[in-house]
Amino acid sequence: MELPMNAPLMAGLRLNVPPYVKHARLIAWVAEMAALTEAQEVYWCDGSQAEYERLCEELVAKGSFKKLAKRPGSFLACTDPSDVARVEDRTFICSETQEAAGPTNNWMAPAEMRALLQTGQKDGTPALFKGCMKGRTMFVVPFSMGPLGSPIAHIGVELTDSAYVAVNMKLMTRMGRGALDVLGTEGEFVPCMHSVGAPLEAGQQDIAWPCNPTTKYIVHYPETREIWSYGSGYGGNALLGKKCFALRIASTMGREAANGPSGGPGWLAEHMLILGVTGPDGRKRHVAAAFPSACGKTNFAMLIPPAGFEGWKVSTIGDDIAWIKPGADGRLRAINPEAGYFGVAPGTNTHTNPNCMASLERDVIFTNVALTDDGDVWWEGMSDEAPAHLIDWQGQDWMPHDAKVSGRKAAHPNARFTVAATNNPALDADWDSPEGVVIDAFIFGGRRSTTVPLVTQARSWTEGVYMAATMGSETTAAAFGQQGVVRRDPFAMLPFMGYHMGDYFGHWLKMGERLGSKAPAIFCVNWFRKGADGKFVWPGYGDNMRVLAWMLARIDGQVEGHANAFGVSPKYDELNWTGLPFTHAHFETVTHLGLDDWKAELKLHETLFEQIGARLPAALPEVKRAIEQRLGL
Ligand code: GTP
Ligand code: SPV
Ligand code: MN
Repeated sequence: MELPMNAPLMAGLRLNVPPYVKHARLIAWVAEMAALTEAQEVYWCDGSQAEYERLCEELVAKGSFKKLAKRPGSFLACTDPSDVARVEDRTFICSETQEAAGPTNNWMAPAEMRALLQTGQKDGTPALFKGCMKGRTMFVVPFSMGPLGSPIAHIGVELTDSAYVAVNMKLMTRMGRGALDVLGTEGEFVPCMHSVGAPLEAGQQDIAWPCNPTTKYIVHYPETREIWSYGSGYGGNALLGKKCFALRIASTMGREAANGPSGGPGWLAEHMLILGVTGPDGRKRHVAAAFPSACGKTNFAMLIPPAGFEGWKVSTIGDDIAWIKPGADGRLRAINPEAGYFGVAPGTNTHTNPNCMASLERDVIFTNVALTDDGDVWWEGMSDEAPAHLIDWQGQDWMPHDAKVSGRKAAHPNARFTVAATNNPALDADWDSPEGVVIDAFIFGGRRSTTVPLVTQARSWTEGVYMAATMGSETTAAAFGQQGVVRRDPFAMLPFMGYHMGDYFGHWLKMGERLGSKAPAIFCVNWFRKGADGKFVWPGYGDNMRVLAWMLARIDGQVEGHANAFGVSPKYDELNWTGLPFTHAHFETVTHLGLDDWKAELKLHETLFEQIGARLPAALPEVKRAIEQRLGL
């Protein structure tokens, strides 16, 4: 290799390439990026536990992390108020043509975006990445999405000036030397360039949460499979293996594989949890469920069946993302590309999700939760009564009385925990299996206080794709912007699609045709219907087992349900109600189909179809017409 690997690169900068790194293209890219960003130092992560602990200690010393006295190996980070969630309006799919990105994505021409980020603009404005790591260390973070060496897995390398990102990536992915070993000397990797966008001038003191409060860009180049993220250090904006790679880039890869020379079926990258469910007869099935952000995936994936379900067990394969491919037997198999959970803290407690609370006892990074006086964490919904005094996520004193008066929250509504999957007591034995698990059912579900019933089974794959494509959901704190507004969120993928939404629907329809009789059943659920008092009617959480058991009974042909305009729904007596006082009247409230509601809803489906335009597969408006006919419209 020609590159003078450890020779001074710029004034005083060495690449510090470890002797075990033998990938010339990777080294050349790191050199190029170090020069562009003018990083003060380059550090290659090996992914070891010792390295993780050292970086965490450094974050403590810098004031970015607080060590939690009450939870061994655990830390609290609090962010800048401008940097608390994904920034959808700053997220771009920079395909060569705008048509390829489709009508649901922000788009900018690649050349224009590269000028902005990398090369500088014609008027002389310097590129955002030029000198953006001054005074900072550039961490080289190699990672595998999926089990190391699995035929379904892919490698990425993130370059970041955030130690917070490096330690989070250690918990969230298979990070370090193992990934480099898979890469070898020639292997393919997705380059993921990340900067918090806060260079330090000589002598300038760093702050606890460096970011760029005014300028953020989350950028994807699908054709060249590159990710460039600037200005944010938080979650999906910064942990680039997750939404950027495992959903936006991977969705493109999965579809391209279907159009490639192999003539293969391609694959699916989905915003889905994967769970295993074992019945009293010992038979195990697997379901994958797509709910939009902060709509219940982590909770469903860790469900503990209630009384009345003795002998049933649910185990977690994944809680956020699934990569799904047809196997040699013609059935779909899914892996979880991640190795940890970046989960919503508020609302999590020992009653609603004991498995999650057990996962959080040690070795956790908490972000934007509140700190107790004795060195523990707290968030809204963790206990009925808040501690008498807290330091809130913005570092202010917080007392329950303040909250009553001002409504000020102790934890940010999108406060999160980062924890390795291996902390989960309900972790499935096959969670790390390279060939994945066979999927028996898909579930789609939004957060809807009205209109959408508790559960409906699609009568066909096409009807299921229609349900998923037209799904609406109330917006949540997981993304910056207004909350509680109903929007269409097809397949829970609206913020995560790497290409044209119409082509994506087509990819799903084709996949169904190929699978034929081996296609999983498709269901649509809604845990979030509210009563006249504004409260959730359905108890949710563990009680969702009642609905899951009905779905399995449907697959087994043990219950007939009743057909309605949309599909098949349960009769009251088909659900196991043991231990739950849920009357016929309650059931009616969560299952009722209001004609006026649905007239309005179908108009919104129409608006979505108009937005998608000419690339909308014809099969979907046909399903809509059939529904309208059944409703007598
Ligand atoms: P992302 O990580 O953003 O993709 O979210 P998620 O889909 O994994 O959602 P999660 O399970 O973290 O739940 C988000 C919020 O919804 C939390 O406050 C939960 O307590 C709440 N929630 C989850 N499941 C249910 C349910 O069945 N019923 C009700 N009422 N709330 C739920
Ligand atoms: C989501 O918003 O769906 C998440 C959190 O899972 S983040 O990683 O920030 O995207
Ligand atoms: Mn998510």
